[in-house]
Amino acid sequence: MSDTGTGTIRFLLNGEPRAVSGVAATTTLLQYLRESEHLTGTKEGCAEGDCGACTVLVSEADASGGLKRRALNSCIQFLPAMNGRAVETVEKLGAHRGAAGAASLRDAMVDMHASQCGFCTPGFVVQLFAAWDAGKLSDRQSVKDQISGNLCRCTGYGPIVEAGEALAQVPRADVLGEDLALARQLSQIQNGAVFRYEADGPAGRQLWFAPENVDDLADLYAAHPDATLVAGATDVGLWVTKQHRDLPILIDLSKVQDLQMIEERLNVVYFGAAVTHAEAFATLADIHRDLGETMRRFAGAQTRNAGTMGGNIANGSPIGDLPPCLIALASRVYLRKADDIRAIDLEDFFLDYGRQDRAPGEFVVAIETPRLDANQRFFAHKISKRFDSDISAVMAAFRLTFDGDLVTEARLAFGGMAGTPKRAEAAEAALLGRPFDEGAVRAAQVALADDFQPLSDMRASSAYRLKTAQNLVERFRLELGDGAPARLSAFETGPRTRGVA
Ligand SMILES: Cc1cc2nc3c(=O)[nH]c(=O)nc-3n(C[C@H](O)[C@H](O)[C@H](O)COP(=O)(O)OP(=O)(O)OC[C@H]3O[C@@H](n4cnc5c(N)ncnc54)[C@H](O)[C@@H]3O)c2cc1C
Ligand code: FES
Ligand code: FES
Repeated sequence: MSDTGTGTIRFLLNGEPRAVSGVAATTTLLQYLRESEHLTGTKEGCAEGDCGACTVLVSEADASGGLKRRALNSCIQFLPAMNGRAVETVEKLGAHRGAAGAASLRDAMVDMHASQCGFCTPGFVVQLFAAWDAGKLSDRQSVKDQISGNLCRCTGYGPIVEAGEALAQVPRADVLGEDLALARQLSQIQNGAVFRYEADGPAGRQLWFAPENVDDLADLYAAHPDATLVAGATDVGLWVTKQHRDLPILIDLSKVQDLQMIEERLNVVYFGAAVTHAEAFATLADIHRDLGETMRRFAGAQTRNAGTMGGNIANGSPIGDLPPCLIALASRVYLRKADDIRAIDLEDFFLDYGRQDRAPGEFVVAIETPRLDANQRFFAHKISKRFDSDISAVMAAFRLTFDGDLVTEARLAFGGMAGTPKRAEAAEAALLGRPFDEGAVRAAQVALADDFQPLSDMRASSAYRLKTAQNLVERFRLELGDGAPARLSAFETGPRTRGVA
């Protein structure tokens, strides 16, 4: 493994080169922008990725030499992660490209009266601009989806959505040449195979490593098994901003190209662990539209741009949205420690609350997910207090396999019902060998009370969780029938007949 880091964080800020050293590795990008650069247009609202006030645009060269550009919450991104990247703030929005879009958006925000106190405005502007630039703004719903991670306490959203709709009408210019030039410029400030940064942190020396390939990552993590892996930092960022944890050694996964692949072989999809939720979105929606709908409601756009599939599994959360979906689909997870690679069923990865089947120095490499067979039916539904950008009270995902009318295999997986994402074995047994009719649903609903004794917490009571889980089995039956759609969904195009996977 070559270690060619310079100990200096090199990046572009609004087109100008920066070389930063001597700041703690867990300094957030937002702290740096406001306190060192005095770029105070970027605001701090929540400091936990929830409000979007701190949104900036971050560009990087991708594996094919092109440019990857995304809006991120700067409050939970660590500054060393910007090494080799370009950061654009509201002050210079559109300067690199898309100046017409930025000007139109500014005019629309003024014309529609879309700003009152103005605190949220820079975040909305950067997020809307990023969505327009990426070709994601079309109709009103798309505007709402794109700003679901931005909060405004004054304006009432209507005028902001209208400004977004106006921006959606502005044609995008061809900026391929400019993108390639920026990608080339960024590739010149890369630091080699492993970027290494060291500085005093709040409680002693801190080390940051950013390997670019999986072998270097395996070597580094074997040498530092007590290091904190950081992928999208949508959990780890909060350990610093909210829990003030000391993280002496950090290994950044966001530059490891091998972990960012989505590959398909023989009806099985392999998602690299560092594939972001935004990158996985289309493939998941293609496996089944309920997965698309789940991802649409997963956090907000900026969090989906950063958070990874591997992080959603490795954090071991009992209320993560993807694990129940992936367990219902019979996914497997690949783990690597030094040169040893093993694959286990994803459901076996979650041992107990806060405990996973992962040894020190071992990391998640990929998730292997089979597509649905013609005789399989799938259902996923997230129940949360708020429709957009909220954590689940209950997450349900079901896959049934049929031989004619009879259920030959049942996989009912739930989040929020136990200390881990978990299958409902008694309810599954109650469905086997019979048609999926009202009687079968009743039997499964009774059995669910044997499977789970859920907790009461601020999101939901135990009784609510159990009742909801039972009702979702019935909803699956209704949605498979010829009835009217049983929920609001952007992916809903009509009744869910048996023939629709
Ligand atoms: C505003 C907000 C909204 C959110 N909404 C949702 C939501 O709707 N649904 C939901 O499920 N989650 C939600 N989350 C939680 C979080 O975004 C997800 O769990 C995300 O997938 C975590 O991925 P990450 O890459 O950011 O993880 P990180 O924060 O980088 O890491 C999380 C944990 O996983 C470990 N880790 C990361 N990658 C690996 C790997 N490859 N191998 C081993 N360990 C690894 C890290 O060491 C750490 O312990 C939300 C978070 C925020 C801040
Ligand atoms: S300050 Fe609220 S998302 Fe960053
Ligand atoms: S205009 Fe005041 S918070 Fe949005």
